[in-house]
Amino acid sequence: MIFSSDNTAATPPEILDALTRAASGPALPYGADEHSDSVRRRLADLFERDVDVLFVSTGTAANALGLATLTPPWGSVLCHRDSHVNNDECGAPEFYTAGAKLVPLGGADAKIDPDELRTAVRYKKGDVHSVEPSVVSVTQATETGAVYTVDELRELGAITKDAGLRLHMDGARFAGAVASLGATPAALTWRAGVDLLSFGATKNGTMTADAIVVFDRALTPELSFRAKRAGQLTAKTRFQSAQVDAYLTDGLWLRNAAHANAMAARLQDGLKAVPGVELLGAADANILFVRLPQPVIDGLLADGFVFYHDRWGPGVVRLVTSFATTEEEVDALLAGAGRHAV
Ligand SMILES: Cc1ncc(COP(=O)(O)O)c(C=O)c1O
Repeated sequence: MIFSSDNTAATPPEILDALTRAASGPALPYGADEHSDSVRRRLADLFERDVDVLFVSTGTAANALGLATLTPPWGSVLCHRDSHVNNDECGAPEFYTAGAKLVPLGGADAKIDPDELRTAVRYKKGDVHSVEPSVVSVTQATETGAVYTVDELRELGAITKDAGLRLHMDGARFAGAVASLGATPAALTWRAGVDLLSFGATKNGTMTADAIVVFDRALTPELSFRAKRAGQLTAKTRFQSAQVDAYLTDGLWLRNAAHANAMAARLQDGLKAVPGVELLGAADANILFVRLPQPVIDGLLADGFVFYHDRWGPGVVRLVTSFATTEEEVDALLAGAGRHAV
């Protein structure tokens, strides 16, 4: 009955089995193992081009190291004001970039507004008194559960590239976006100009492994040094790569994401029928923001449901589903909301 985050889910048997298999016998360290090779091949297949892959233990590490590779210390990172990199990474992007400035932009549903971006990418460019606009960071799916369409990404990508900046994607919930849109991973990334993707997996199945997918492979040497220096190059990489390998096998990553999205849609549909409930913003993936009457919040908490409710203003609640959320859990929450609303 936990709807606070998708990172509360455990890990599917496919991942556990892969770990068990990877735990027998020796394997080469630091990314030279067979699962790392397999992941590179699978991702090249998926993204329809050669890519480089680095495994990291957190999404924050993926974002901070990626951004550090895409901007000089005197640069700026243009991001949405509600983005994880701006709000929830304890200054890791600023720290790993050695002081680059995060410039928060607006836009509905935590998507960067193209007009604001158009101005920001040229703001004080070349002026030594200011930071140099260097990289744009988009989150797909966004922190509020919306998904950029391919056209929206292309537009932001064109603005970014026309101004000579780099494009980073925080894909902590990339699978959810792919499952929601049915678009190809290639169309959602490098074909729209993305240079480097934080390929999140822990919210959607893996236990302790996320990855950085590098489309502009000229970035890889610097990124590799940075990852090692940050303590993110794991000797026994096989235990990360085996997880991601299993995650990408037989469509597990997309099946999990489609299930999480379906549970959020079920929640959304059901909540529409509850008196006094207001849906806030688009919920294209597995995150739903709603305004609930206070008695409903209090009642659900007393029933034992877990969710964030006191971070965004009166009555605003965030509900997150995962690959492990069941229809029964969703229906129990809906029944409780209905009961407490009357
Ligand atoms: C949009 C987004 N990016 C990145 C992350 C990565 O976070 P962590 O460093 O906890 O893995 C999260 C996790 O909540 C997230 O929601």
